[in-house]
Amino acid sequence: MKGIILAGGTGTRLKPLTTIINKHLLPVGPYPMIYWPIIKLKEAGITEILLVINGADQEMFETLLGDGRNLGVNLSFAHQKGPNGIADGIGSGRNFVGKKKFIVILGDNLFEDSLVSYIESFRLQEKGAKVLLKQVDDPQRYGIAELDTEKKIITSIEEKPIHPKSNLCAVGIYMYDSSVFEYIDSTVPSGRGELEITDVNNMYIKNDQLSYDFLNGWWIDAGTHKSLYTANSFYYCNNREGNNE
Ligand code: G1P
Repeated sequence: MKGIILAGGTGTRLKPLTTIINKHLLPVGPYPMIYWPIIKLKEAGITEILLVINGADQEMFETLLGDGRNLGVNLSFAHQKGPNGIADGIGSGRNFVGKKKFIVILGDNLFEDSLVSYIESFRLQEKGAKVLLKQVDDPQRYGIAELDTEKKIITSIEEKPIHPKSNLCAVGIYMYDSSVFEYIDSTVPSGRGELEITDVNNMYIKNDQLSYDFLNGWWIDAGTHKSLYTANSFYYCNNREGNNE
């Protein structure tokens, strides 16, 4: 399987840190943030990786990472046209992945535990997609899954719900077969002007093809000042409590 890391976007919530530097190059522990999703994919045996970035940032990423060989991976780059959403970013990887299954990680999502077991279970899944769920304190901020616990299926995912049906967030790692590109083609921009990954995942749900696992260990979307600080404190203090504020 191949991997796609989404590292475009403008990092608005992290301004002024992101005024002259891309969010994914800010420090988390001893490394720039972007190292972490690369390390997680490599651990799972995924070494063919596409970084989807803003064109203007390519030189910085290339200076840091080159072709990836220092991290034991083979990196290539694609440009996202604008802040048009996660589904649009994944669409840039169409030629890169071809007809095979692949893994997507959001470049600002940090995971305590290895992702190997989840990725291995998706390797065995014949078709469809898989998401990972984690309990959060602030469900209004994320894509929130509603489960049918008897049938052990996700019945819907709602993006940033005002009245959340659960506190189970679909975190920023997604596993897809190549039918995702047809689904992306049929999505339309949401109220915030983005092609929402939640819309794509709901299409898999409609076709009974979205599996899930519960994510162990802490998980952080390091897109705000406080969550970036928390990510660093987890790294240095080995704090096991999750906190995404
Ligand atoms: C995005 C997704 C959301 C997901 C979250 C995980 O949110 O749209 O479904 O739960 O990433 O970090 P955004 O970062 O665009 O607010």
